[in-house]
Amino acid sequence: MASKKVLVIHGPNLNMLGKREPEIYGTTRLDDINKRLAELGKKVGLTVDTFQSNHEGAIIDKIQEASQKYDGLIINPAAYTHTSIAIIDSLLLLKGPVIEVHLSNIYRREPFRHKSMVAGVATATLGGFGHHGYYMALEAIARMLK
Ligand code: DQA
Repeated sequence: MASKKVLVIHGPNLNMLGKREPEIYGTTRLDDINKRLAELGKKVGLTVDTFQSNHEGAIIDKIQEASQKYDGLIINPAAYTHTSIAIIDSLLLLKGPVIEVHLSNIYRREPFRHKSMVAGVATATLGGFGHHGYYMALEAIARMLK
C-alpha cells in the first residue's frame, strides 16, 4: 500500500530561518528542518513534501493542490496567520487533518500576533516549541492518519 502523504507549508520570511531574529526563531535553517521532517516521515511511514513561499497566492495554489493530493497538512502561515481570510478559505477545502505550527508562542508576543485566523479552521495548533513543533505535528498527524 502506498504511504500516506503530508505536505508542510512554510509561509513568508521562513526561508530566512537561521538568520532571522534567531533569539525568537532559533538558529536552525529551513533546509535542516525540511530534511529532518523527511527523515521522520520515513520513520512514521509518511511521505513528506515541503514548500515555502513569500507569496499569499502561491500558498493558496499549493493548499488547493494539497486538497487533491495529500492526506494531511502542516502549515506555518507566518505573518499571514494574522491577516489572511483567503488562506482560511482554501484550508476549508481540505478533508484531512490540518495542523497549524508556530515556532514562537504568538500569545506571548505583540498584541497584533495574538489573533490567529487559522486556529479556527485547524484541527490542532502548536506554538512555542521552536522547530521541534514541526516534528511534534508530524508525529501527531501520523497518529491521526492511522
Ligand atoms: C510565526 C509567528 C508569526 O507572528 C510571524 O509573523 C512569523 C513566524 C512563528 O512561527 O512563530 O513569521 O508564524
